[in-house]
Formats: sequence, C-alpha cells, structure tokens
Amino acid sequence: MTKPEKHLQDLFHETLRDIYYAEKKILTSLPKMAKAAQSPDLRAAFEKHERETEGQVERLEQIFALIEEPAKGKTCDAINGIIDESKEIMTEFKGSPALDAGLLASAQAVEHYEIARYGTLKTWADELGLAQAVKLLDETLQEEKKTDAALSELAKVAVNQEAIEVTAGCALRADPITTIDSPSAMSRNDWQRSAKWEPSMSHSLVSDWPSHGV
Ligand SMILES: [Fe+2]
Repeated sequence: MTKPEKHLQDLFHETLRDIYYAEKKILTSLPKMAKAAQSPDLRAAFEKHERETEGQVERLEQIFALIEEPAKGKTCDAINGIIDESKEIMTEFKGSPALDAGLLASAQAVEHYEIARYGTLKTWADELGLAQAVKLLDETLQEEKKTDAALSELAKVAVNQEAIEVTAGCALRADPITTIDSPSAMSRNDWQRSAKWEPSMSHSLVSDWPSHGV
C-alpha cells in the first residue's frame, strides 16, 4: 500500500506539534534552572523567560485554532536531549563556579533550537498564506532572539566572574612555581593557560595544590 502524499501543510502541522511539545517541556525546565542559577540576574532572566514562554504556548494554541487542528504536541527528541544535558550540568556542577556558564550554554542551545523552528514555521506559514500565523510566529521569534541576546550578555559576565574566582583562588595560594617539590612539573605559564582554558579543572587544581611552602 502506498503512503498518502504529504504536503507543506502537513509538515507545518507536524512542526507546530514539535515546537508545542518543546515549549511545554521548556516551561517545566525553566523554574528548575532559575532555582539552580547562582547569579540573581541569571535567575531573573530565566523567570522572565518562563512568563514569556507561557505567552508563546498561547500563541501556538491560536495557530492550531487557525488551521483547525487540536493543540497537541508530538515528542521532540531534540529538546529532550538538550534538557537532559542541562539536568546533567545542574547535577555535576552544583556548587561550582562554572555552574552559571553551563546553565547559560544550555539555555542558549534551547533558544537556538527554537529560533530555527520558529524561523522555518514563519516561512512555511507565509508560503501557505497564513498571514495571522506569520504575525504570531514572528512575535515569538523576536522574543526568542531577544532572549538569546540577553543570555549572550549574561554569559560574558558569568565567564568573567568564573575567571576572577579562579584567579583569586590562585592568588590566595603561594606562587606555585617557587614550590620546588610541587607534585606537578607545571610551569607558571602552563598554570595560567589551564586557568584560562580549563576553569573547572584549574579550580580543582587550586584546592589540590600543596599548602606547604605557602
Ligand atoms: Fe520559547
């Protein structure tokens, strides 16, 4: 038996179901990310985006009504994967200076997925002559882009803050290079390089560094 032909409107409907599922999943995840965030600004950004996401779900429901389909999601493995990764970060980096940078990276992965989906849906809605849907999708698309830009700014602060904490940790210790019997042959340059590129590793090295000679 041959499969029925599928057209652009079928693809539009399927993708609408995908992003509807994704938005609802994000709604359950954002409060957890807000609770985990160490920076008050990052927590506020997650809380603000949670309120926006509620509006985005409502817009999607309006689009389902426009195409006379029930508002029903379809499992989106992509968003499940991104959210599983964010849960992993919250567990593995709990209490660590790099936690906020990790949360921001996860949130931006979510935003980029949504931007891709909404951009596509908007183009397809236009092709299908769904002018009202184009308007609604564009409102959400602009919101997602703004959120992404705000997260980029917060990410710079979070990474800088993390670097400051690592540097402060180094300064509190003795000058490691003068400790002749240090457990590592790491030179000052190697040390600084690792602090720059491997913040979490260097942080653990700070606490592992020998206290004698300090
Ligand atoms: Fe969204």
